[in-house]
Formats: sequence, structure tokens, C-alpha cells
Amino acid sequence: MKILVVHGPNLNLLGSRELSVYGTATLDDVNAVISREAKTLGVDVEIHQTQREGEIIELLHSGIGRVDGALLNPAAYSHTSRAIADAIRAIPYPVVEVHLSNIHAREQWRRESVTAEAARGLVAGFGPGSYVAALHALRSVLEA
Ligand code: DQA
Repeated sequence: MKILVVHGPNLNLLGSRELSVYGTATLDDVNAVISREAKTLGVDVEIHQTQREGEIIELLHSGIGRVDGALLNPAAYSHTSRAIADAIRAIPYPVVEVHLSNIHAREQWRRESVTAEAARGLVAGFGPGSYVAALHALRSVLEA
């Protein structure tokens, strides 16, 4: 089983960015957590981070015929990007949206995720553990 992981804009600054919201774990720490859990589950992961909306779309397209599913943290594009939402609808494999923070407990504008409308499901609010929970959820969807 192969899973694509895509982190969106500003997530490269984890560990120094808004510590009270996102905590002290760096993106490398988060990726290590994902890789460790994937290994335990016998899942192959391919991990990317980009600041660009179009690159998120290209990465999702690049998974067609190559990956079984994806974990996607679109970051702030979650709240704005109809183009990423359409890309999620256009690809044949399931996407689970992931957020470190609980977007429903923050500013009003973060409470809507247009990309989550297209995703198979959403995990938010557990810090790096959101990715672990999402990986388990995606694996059980794929095994069903
Ligand atoms: C985030 C939540 C978004 O609202 C924000 O723009 C991010 C990070 C999260 O993982 O909690 O950059 O996606």
C-alpha cells in the first residue's frame, strides 16, 4: 500500500511558527512520526511540502495510478481553494484531510474547509497525532 503525504504552505516553519497553536514539533519531527507509524503498518509513504497551490494539484495528479491514497494538509488553502477541491474530486483515490490544530475551535474563517468537502474525511486537532489517526483511517478505508 502506497500513501502520498502532502503538506501545504507554511508547514515548513513548524517548530518556530505560532508555537501556542502548532507546538514545538518541526516538520521533520512530524514526518518522522508519520514514517514510523507507516513502517509499523507496513505502508509505504512518499512525503512532500510545498508553498504553492498549483504544486499541490500537480502532486495529487502525480499519484494517479501510482498511490492508493493520500493524506493532505492544504494549510490555509483549505479555506479558499476550489481548485484543490476539484483536484481531489478528479482523482480516483481517497484523500484524508489533516490539520494539526482544531480548525473548528479557531477563527470563524478557518471553520470552513472547501477542500474537506471533497475529501473522504477529516482529522483535526491532535497535533502530529492527526497524521497518525488519518493514516489509520485511510488504511482501513483502503482495506475495506
Ligand atoms: C492548519 C490550519 C490552517 O487553518 C492553517 O492555515 C495552517 C495549518 C493546521 O494544520 O492546523 O497553516 O492546516
